[in-house]
Amino acid sequence: MSGPLLEINGLTMSFGGLVAVDGVDLSVNTGEIVGLIGPNGAGKTTVFNCISRFYEPQSGTIRFKERDITHARSHEIIRFGIARTFQNVELCRSMTTLENLLVGEHAVMRGGAIRDGLRLSRAPRCCCSTSRPPAPTTARARGSRT
Ligand SMILES: Nc1ncnc2c1ncn2[C@@H]1O[C@H](COP(=O)(O)OP(=O)(O)O)[C@@H](O)[C@H]1O
Ligand SMILES: [Mg+2]
Repeated sequence: MSGPLLEINGLTMSFGGLVAVDGVDLSVNTGEIVGLIGPNGAGKTTVFNCISRFYEPQSGTIRFKERDITHARSHEIIRFGIARTFQNVELCRSMTTLENLLVGEHAVMRGGAIRDGLRLSRAPRCCCSTSRPPAPTTARARGSRT
């Protein structure tokens, strides 16, 4: 791989008349730790929601490991090696700390229908409900925001 690990060009995301992210360019190289900073409402979370495909950006491109993931499905993103955490952490009260951590392993488990049906897979199912904020009024959302 010769290019950056993550390369974003001209990313734009609006909610009705509100332009939350306006032509953002961002590049992250392998091994680099990059922070995205800005005041409340600057659009940081919206950028992450576009990368993880919770939101469908109106324009711009997102490339990861030289693959164009701009229009990838949200469930495909983790298979490419991208994971995220949310600002509002919710734990399942009935589960232990370890069990809560194992929920994060769910995406890489290979349980299969029978193992999952019999609940033999290693990671426990999360029994709590996740709070989802209201969908944007005009833009198409694919999930929750942080
Ligand atoms: N789902 C949404 N629907 C409508 N407006 C939104 C939505 N998500 C974010 N916004 C608006 O986009 C702007 C950027 O928000 P956000 O990305 O959450 O900022 P930050 O994470 O930098 O605090 C804010 O004005 C926010 O109100
Ligand atoms: Mg935020």
